[in-house]
Amino acid sequence: MSTTLDPQDTCVLVTGGAGFIGSHTVVELLQGGYRVVVVDDLSNSSEVALERVKQIVGEDAAENLTFYQANVLDREAMERIFTEHRIDRVIHFAGFKAVGESVKKPIEYYHNNIENTLVLVDVMRNHGCKSIIFSSSSTVYGDPDSLPLTEESPKKACTNPYGWTKWMIEQILTDLHTADPEWDVVILRYFNPIGAHESGLIGEDPKGIPNNLVPYVAQVAVGKLAAVQVFGDDYPTPDGTGVRDYIHVVDLARGHVAALNWMNGREGVEIFNLGTGKGTSVLEVIRAFSKACGKDLPYVIKPRRGGDIAENFGDASKAEREMGWKAQYNIDDMCRDSWNWQSHNPDGFRS
Ligand code: UD1
Repeated sequence: MSTTLDPQDTCVLVTGGAGFIGSHTVVELLQGGYRVVVVDDLSNSSEVALERVKQIVGEDAAENLTFYQANVLDREAMERIFTEHRIDRVIHFAGFKAVGESVKKPIEYYHNNIENTLVLVDVMRNHGCKSIIFSSSSTVYGDPDSLPLTEESPKKACTNPYGWTKWMIEQILTDLHTADPEWDVVILRYFNPIGAHESGLIGEDPKGIPNNLVPYVAQVAVGKLAAVQVFGDDYPTPDGTGVRDYIHVVDLARGHVAALNWMNGREGVEIFNLGTGKGTSVLEVIRAFSKACGKDLPYVIKPRRGGDIAENFGDASKAEREMGWKAQYNIDDMCRDSWNWQSHNPDGFRS
């Protein structure tokens, strides 16, 4: 059973806390006065991110951060963490997240993402911690019948194993609450997170050639890639290119803190969309980024990418109504901060 706690009395375990969304969330948690334990195996992230987090929040808040390099699948390591700390709440980010790779490696994706969640909630239960925020995705809505997507929109078939793991973990956590109503589950469905912390110290650091639009555009802007490939200009959208609901990663991170404050002591399962409610096309993103970096970025029109949908944007009014959270940043802010991060760290955390 969870109890009401003040931030300074709350110890939050953040799985995958060295990753893109995780590290930005850890900043907001530490700045909000929370005590934070990060568990991350660094398989797709860097410990440098956590050093930078400490730099951003300053010495005093940094003392409230503990890091364990471990995989959430490692039950012994997880048991040790829960024994060494009285964990009050968990924010679960850790997981594989590359859509294309998931199509090629379904076993690895299902094993890692689903099994690590099962280990995590089992260890939580053993230690009497039943409060979890799960990092889900608007991908669980599949190809939408109508827009904007609300939390009541039906979950539909996903186009790849990555999406299905999100879909299934949502179900697992819901079933867990049915079996034991003391569980306190918040499912956050993200739209397309981009941008970076305004300090330029932390940001997205994809390995190899980026699959997602904005990291790709950012690498074109620093001259590492020649031109943006626009996947399709014949969609039924205003300019023919795909439309998405991009959200600044700092807004998203603050959404987790809002959820933590809101769930405080509640029991139940609640789903929130975290987006801006505004759709932006691929060409609009390229234009906004060109403005941010001060040069026209080259692009070429390519065929549609398999599995893509024309348009996706969410209604995030429930999060505002219930948790008092609303996205503050617009696409220009997102591109400015993304450029600031990329131009100062062209090789990510390796530079
Ligand atoms: C994808 C995943 C989503 C995941 C998200 C991570 C699906 C269907 N979507 O979203 O689950 O959470 O990544 O951020 O599994 N585009 C180009 N050129 C590029 C790359 C992308 O034109 O080089 C276009 C795409 O066609 C799309 C838009 O840009 O219209 C956004 O693509 P992307 O950044 O890859 O995100 P999604 O596919 O929306």
